[in-house]
Amino acid sequence: MNPSNKENVAFSRRFFLKASSAFTVLTLIPHSVKAFYTEIKETYFVKKVIVPLSITINKKKYDLNIDSRTTLLDLLRENLNLTGTKKGCDHGQCGACTVHINGKRTLSCLSLATMMTGKEVTTIEGLAEGDNLHPMQEAFLEHDGFQCGYCTPGQIMSAVACVNEGHTNSVEEIKEYMSGNICRCGAYNGITNAIKSVAK
Ligand code: FES
Ligand code: FES
Repeated sequence: MNPSNKENVAFSRRFFLKASSAFTVLTLIPHSVKAFYTEIKETYFVKKVIVPLSITINKKKYDLNIDSRTTLLDLLRENLNLTGTKKGCDHGQCGACTVHINGKRTLSCLSLATMMTGKEVTTIEGLAEGDNLHPMQEAFLEHDGFQCGYCTPGQIMSAVACVNEGHTNSVEEIKEYMSGNICRCGAYNGITNAIKSVAK
């Protein structure tokens, strides 16, 4: 074999090895990437399914078709424009999204809307009777139970429940049963005083 033939053979081998490696990369990486994303999607995301929902909110009945993954909080805010209920953490840690379900306080960010079928939901918009504020709303005004107001709807819904549950025998008890509602403005004294005044 003359030198030029050797070079040609080497070139051919090098070329073949490079070409086959590139081909392998091109065929395997897209496949593995696709498989990776498919696995993530199937593991962490449930497919969109539209389901019927019959629900009563603030004494008004709604018959809806919703994405089964919708939380009660998003249903209220995004679908029904009831934006009085606030989204703070969206993880069950701040209490801003508190509503009443069949009279009991519940974090709407942790509740799937589909689980509310046949239930009665009350939000901050449903507390007042026409132009007459709920006594707890009046008390928050009177005792300066808020500053920026972002946590206030959740605080008031929890405060109403706290009184109804009978957990108002002392300031310590009120603080303990209101501890799920965080106020970054630190309006805790006003909130406690408002609850004390309504409990009387
Ligand atoms: Fe629900 Fe914070 S938004 S607990
Ligand atoms: Fe501002 Fe409570 S009043 S977070």
